[in-house]
Amino acid sequence: MKFFIDTADINEIRDLASTGLVDGVTTNPSLIAKTGRDFISTVREICQIVPGPVSAEVTATDHATMLKEGQKLARIAKNIAVKVPLTRDGLKTCKRLSDDGTMVNVTLCFSAAQAILAAKAGASFISPFVGRLDDVATDGMLLIKDIVDIYKQYPRFKTEVLVASVRGPLHVVAAARMGAHVVTLPPNVLRQMYAHPLTDKGLASFLEDWKKTGQSILGADDSGKKQAAE
Ligand code: E4P
Repeated sequence: MKFFIDTADINEIRDLASTGLVDGVTTNPSLIAKTGRDFISTVREICQIVPGPVSAEVTATDHATMLKEGQKLARIAKNIAVKVPLTRDGLKTCKRLSDDGTMVNVTLCFSAAQAILAAKAGASFISPFVGRLDDVATDGMLLIKDIVDIYKQYPRFKTEVLVASVRGPLHVVAAARMGAHVVTLPPNVLRQMYAHPLTDKGLASFLEDWKKTGQSILGADDSGKKQAAE
């Protein structure tokens, strides 16, 4: 399972990329607006930090302008995935960009029918928004299961299921059980995934006991003898 991070905050991206666990980044116009920074240069910087796919979203709604915007965004770096909305014009743009060899992430997917269209249009990624479905009392993860199952029936579909609008670690675990290819994680969710009170408690007691031994791993040579202090 690949982990993308769902932010345009450069400091967060640098910090989380240093864990070695980050395979890509997703941005959207709202996340860019939150940074208060220039779109193109921010995305270029992100592409230099993370070598995997970096989603940058078009903002036009008609095919001709979306295509021009998508081509411009694709020129920023080789690892750009142009993000288009799941509309008729968006999918037309997806087909054209995908045929030209550009990665496309189709966003704002809320139904299996839409996901089938995106795969037919050659999308590299389909982004179903699970959290926003949960918000309207519809189980977002059921949509992921449906799309994963449908795509499996058609090995010629190359589209990866990218679970978006993730609200917590349980979404990630459910997505992994279903075999989703990618989850895009808000930074706080990735951090929450490390946490367990029994890990903290266990570590504290190990360290307390270790202290009693008076030993230090780096203070011993390879045979275990205590090294003389410098
Ligand atoms: C990712 O590609 C989406 O833009 C993002 O996950 C949306 O998440 P939200 O519903 O928390 O805004």
